[in-house]
Amino acid sequence: MKIIVVFVTTLDGKITKWGDPNVHRWSSQEDQTYFKKTWDESPLIIMGSSTFDFDPVKPSPKNRLIVLSRKPDSYKKYEVPGQLEFSDESPVKLTQRFRAMGYDRMLVVGGPHVATSFFRDNLVDELWLTLEPKIFGKGGNFVVEEELDINLKLISIEKVNDRGTMLTKYAVIKNS
Ligand SMILES: NC(=O)c1ccc[n+]([C@@H]2O[C@H](COP(=O)([O-])OP(=O)(O)OC[C@H]3O[C@@H](n4cnc5c(N)ncnc54)[C@H](OP(=O)(O)O)[C@@H]3O)[C@@H](O)[C@H]2O)c1
Repeated sequence: MKIIVVFVTTLDGKITKWGDPNVHRWSSQEDQTYFKKTWDESPLIIMGSSTFDFDPVKPSPKNRLIVLSRKPDSYKKYEVPGQLEFSDESPVKLTQRFRAMGYDRMLVVGGPHVATSFFRDNLVDELWLTLEPKIFGKGGNFVVEEELDINLKLISIEKVNDRGTMLTKYAVIKNS
Protein backbone atom coordinates (compact mmCIF):
# COMPACT_ATOMS: atom_id res chain seq x y z
CA MET A 1 0.00 0.00 0.00
CA LYS A 2 1.43 3.34 -1.08
CA ILE A 3 1.08 6.15 1.48
CA ILE A 4 0.85 9.61 -0.06
CA VAL A 5 0.90 12.92 1.83
CA VAL A 6 -0.68 15.81 -0.06
CA PHE A 7 -0.55 19.56 0.71
CA VAL A 8 -0.76 22.94 -0.98
CA THR A 9 1.92 25.35 0.19
CA THR A 10 3.40 28.77 -0.57
CA LEU A 11 7.00 29.25 -1.66
CA ASP A 12 7.90 29.92 1.99
CA GLY A 13 6.33 26.62 3.03
CA LYS A 14 3.12 27.97 4.59
CA ILE A 15 -0.05 25.88 4.44
CA THR A 16 -2.21 28.48 6.15
CA LYS A 17 -2.30 32.24 5.60
CA TRP A 18 -1.46 33.88 8.93
CA GLY A 19 -3.20 31.01 10.73
CA ASP A 20 -6.50 31.22 8.80
CA PRO A 21 -7.51 27.58 8.23
CA ASN A 22 -9.41 28.31 4.98
CA VAL A 23 -6.96 27.19 2.29
CA HIS A 24 -9.48 27.84 -0.51
CA ARG A 25 -9.16 31.58 0.07
CA TRP A 26 -5.67 31.55 -1.47
CA SER A 27 -5.00 28.29 -3.33
CA SER A 28 -5.44 28.44 -7.12
CA GLN A 29 -8.48 27.09 -8.95
CA GLU A 30 -6.13 24.65 -10.68
CA ASP A 31 -4.96 23.25 -7.34
CA GLN A 32 -8.53 22.96 -6.06
CA THR A 33 -9.54 21.01 -9.18
CA TYR A 34 -6.46 18.77 -8.85
CA PHE A 35 -7.10 18.16 -5.16
CA LYS A 36 -10.74 17.25 -5.79
CA LYS A 37 -9.72 14.79 -8.52
CA THR A 38 -7.03 13.29 -6.25
CA TRP A 39 -9.60 12.97 -3.43
CA ASP A 40 -12.23 11.40 -5.70
CA GLU A 41 -9.71 8.85 -6.97
CA SER A 42 -8.60 7.79 -3.47
CA PRO A 43 -10.54 4.96 -1.87
CA LEU A 44 -8.89 5.58 1.52
CA ILE A 45 -8.18 9.01 3.04
CA ILE A 46 -6.71 9.98 6.42
CA MET A 47 -7.21 13.34 8.14
CA GLY A 48 -6.50 14.84 11.56
CA SER A 49 -9.36 15.94 13.80
CA SER A 50 -8.39 19.63 13.63
CA THR A 51 -8.64 19.64 9.85
CA PHE A 52 -11.99 17.84 10.10
CA ASP A 53 -13.27 20.22 12.80
CA PHE A 54 -12.63 23.19 10.55
CA ASP A 55 -14.49 21.68 7.58
CA PRO A 56 -16.48 18.53 8.48
CA VAL A 57 -16.44 16.42 5.33
CA LYS A 58 -19.70 14.75 4.26
CA PRO A 59 -19.57 10.96 4.05
CA SER A 60 -19.49 9.51 0.55
CA PRO A 61 -19.70 5.93 -0.74
CA LYS A 62 -16.80 6.83 -3.09
CA ASN A 63 -14.15 6.89 -0.33
CA ARG A 64 -13.48 5.79 3.20
CA LEU A 65 -12.35 8.74 5.29
CA ILE A 66 -10.64 8.03 8.61
CA VAL A 67 -10.33 10.96 11.02
CA LEU A 68 -7.66 10.49 13.67
CA SER A 69 -8.56 11.64 17.17
CA ARG A 70 -7.60 10.53 20.64
CA LYS A 71 -11.28 10.82 21.56
CA PRO A 72 -13.08 9.15 18.64
CA ASP A 73 -16.25 8.59 20.72
CA SER A 74 -16.94 12.32 20.74
CA TYR A 75 -17.47 12.16 16.95
CA LYS A 76 -20.06 9.33 17.03
CA LYS A 77 -22.81 11.52 15.54
CA TYR A 78 -20.83 11.93 12.32
CA GLU A 79 -19.93 8.26 11.87
CA VAL A 80 -21.07 6.32 8.78
CA PRO A 81 -19.33 2.91 8.79
CA GLY A 82 -17.24 2.34 5.68
CA GLN A 83 -17.49 6.02 4.67
CA LEU A 84 -16.59 8.28 7.60
CA GLU A 85 -14.92 6.75 10.64
CA PHE A 86 -13.01 8.08 13.66
CA SER A 87 -10.03 6.26 15.11
CA ASP A 88 -7.43 6.58 17.85
CA GLU A 89 -5.11 4.03 16.27
CA SER A 90 -1.47 4.97 15.75
CA PRO A 91 -0.35 5.58 12.15
CA VAL A 92 1.53 2.25 12.28
CA LYS A 93 -1.52 0.27 13.44
CA LEU A 94 -3.79 2.04 10.99
CA THR A 95 -1.43 1.30 8.11
CA GLN A 96 -1.15 -2.37 9.10
CA ARG A 97 -4.92 -2.73 9.30
CA PHE A 98 -5.68 -1.23 5.90
CA ARG A 99 -2.74 -2.95 4.21
CA ALA A 100 -4.11 -6.28 5.47
CA MET A 101 -7.52 -5.33 4.04
CA GLY A 102 -5.98 -5.01 0.58
CA TYR A 103 -6.06 -1.23 0.04
CA ASP A 104 -3.28 -0.23 -2.37
CA ARG A 105 -3.22 3.50 -1.60
CA MET A 106 -3.70 5.69 1.46
CA LEU A 107 -3.97 9.46 1.01
CA VAL A 108 -2.97 11.55 4.05
CA VAL A 109 -4.49 15.03 3.57
CA GLY A 110 -3.15 16.64 6.75
CA GLY A 111 -3.01 18.59 8.77
CA PRO A 112 0.59 19.05 9.78
CA HIS A 113 0.31 17.16 13.10
CA VAL A 114 -1.01 14.04 11.44
CA ALA A 115 1.37 14.33 8.47
CA THR A 116 4.32 14.68 10.86
CA SER A 117 3.33 11.54 12.75
CA PHE A 118 3.33 9.58 9.47
CA PHE A 119 6.73 11.05 8.51
CA ARG A 120 8.14 10.37 11.98
CA ASP A 121 7.19 6.70 11.73
CA ASN A 122 8.77 6.45 8.28
CA LEU A 123 5.48 5.43 6.67
CA VAL A 124 5.29 7.97 3.85
CA ASP A 125 6.11 6.81 0.30
CA GLU A 126 5.29 9.98 -1.64
CA LEU A 127 4.73 13.69 -1.01
CA TRP A 128 2.47 15.49 -3.49
CA LEU A 129 3.06 19.17 -2.93
CA THR A 130 1.37 22.00 -4.81
CA LEU A 131 3.58 25.10 -4.80
CA GLU A 132 1.65 28.36 -5.07
CA PRO A 133 3.81 31.37 -6.05
CA LYS A 134 3.07 33.27 -2.85
CA ILE A 135 4.87 34.24 0.35
CA PHE A 136 2.92 34.65 3.61
CA GLY A 137 5.72 34.90 6.18
CA LYS A 138 3.40 33.87 9.00
CA GLY A 139 1.39 30.64 9.08
CA GLY A 140 1.74 26.90 9.66
CA ASN A 141 4.17 24.64 7.83
CA PHE A 142 3.11 21.24 6.49
CA VAL A 143 5.16 19.52 9.18
CA VAL A 144 5.27 20.71 12.77
CA GLU A 145 8.51 21.82 14.37
CA GLU A 146 10.42 18.74 15.39
CA GLU A 147 13.62 17.02 14.30
CA LEU A 148 13.07 15.07 11.07
CA ASP A 149 15.61 13.97 8.48
CA ILE A 150 13.80 12.82 5.36
CA ASN A 151 15.32 12.65 1.89
CA LEU A 152 13.13 12.80 -1.18
CA LYS A 153 13.55 12.53 -4.92
CA LEU A 154 11.51 14.48 -7.46
CA ILE A 155 9.20 12.24 -9.51
CA SER A 156 7.37 14.89 -11.54
CA ILE A 157 6.61 18.58 -11.79
CA GLU A 158 3.82 20.23 -13.78
CA LYS A 159 3.13 23.95 -14.29
CA VAL A 160 -0.63 24.35 -14.38
CA ASN A 161 -1.27 28.09 -14.91
CA ASP A 162 0.36 31.31 -16.15
CA ARG A 163 1.35 32.38 -12.65
CA GLY A 164 3.35 29.19 -12.28
CA THR A 165 1.48 27.04 -9.78
CA MET A 166 3.45 23.78 -9.72
CA LEU A 167 2.10 20.33 -8.99
CA THR A 168 5.08 18.37 -7.69
CA LYS A 169 5.43 14.74 -6.69
CA TYR A 170 8.33 13.43 -4.61
CA ALA A 171 9.25 9.90 -3.56
CA VAL A 172 10.63 9.43 -0.07
CA ILE A 173 14.00 7.67 -0.17
CA LYS A 174 13.66 4.97 2.48
CA ASN A 175 16.59 3.95 4.71
CA SER A 176 18.67 6.94 3.57
N1 LIG B 1 -2.69 23.71 2.96
C1 LIG B 1 -3.06 22.45 3.08
O1 LIG B 1 -2.85 21.66 2.15
C2 LIG B 1 -3.72 21.96 4.34
C3 LIG B 1 -4.12 20.63 4.41
C4 LIG B 1 -4.71 20.16 5.59
C5 LIG B 1 -4.88 21.01 6.66
N2 LIG B 1 -4.47 22.30 6.56
C6 LIG B 1 -4.62 23.20 7.72
O2 LIG B 1 -3.99 22.61 8.83
C7 LIG B 1 -4.63 23.05 10.02
C8 LIG B 1 -4.87 21.88 10.96
O3 LIG B 1 -3.68 21.16 11.13
P1 LIG B 1 -3.18 20.66 12.56
O4 LIG B 1 -1.79 20.17 12.38
O5 LIG B 1 -3.45 21.73 13.55
O6 LIG B 1 -4.17 19.48 12.90
P2 LIG B 1 -4.44 18.03 12.27
O7 LIG B 1 -3.16 17.36 11.90
O8 LIG B 1 -5.53 18.13 11.25
O9 LIG B 1 -5.09 17.30 13.54
C9 LIG B 1 -4.30 17.10 14.70
C10 LIG B 1 -5.16 16.44 15.76
O10 LIG B 1 -5.46 15.12 15.37
C11 LIG B 1 -5.56 14.30 16.55
N3 LIG B 1 -4.66 13.15 16.40
C12 LIG B 1 -5.02 11.85 16.60
N4 LIG B 1 -4.01 11.02 16.33
C13 LIG B 1 -2.98 11.78 15.95
C14 LIG B 1 -1.67 11.45 15.56
N5 LIG B 1 -1.21 10.21 15.49
N6 LIG B 1 -0.85 12.47 15.23
C15 LIG B 1 -1.30 13.75 15.26
N7 LIG B 1 -2.55 14.10 15.64
C16 LIG B 1 -3.39 13.12 15.98
C17 LIG B 1 -5.24 15.19 17.73
O11 LIG B 1 -6.47 15.76 18.17
P3 LIG B 1 -7.49 15.08 19.25
O12 LIG B 1 -6.89 13.82 19.71
O13 LIG B 1 -7.64 16.10 20.31
O14 LIG B 1 -8.77 14.86 18.47
C18 LIG B 1 -4.45 16.32 17.10
O15 LIG B 1 -4.53 17.52 17.83
C19 LIG B 1 -5.91 23.73 9.60
O16 LIG B 1 -5.70 25.12 9.72
C20 LIG B 1 -6.06 23.36 8.14
O17 LIG B 1 -6.67 24.35 7.36
C21 LIG B 1 -3.90 22.79 5.43
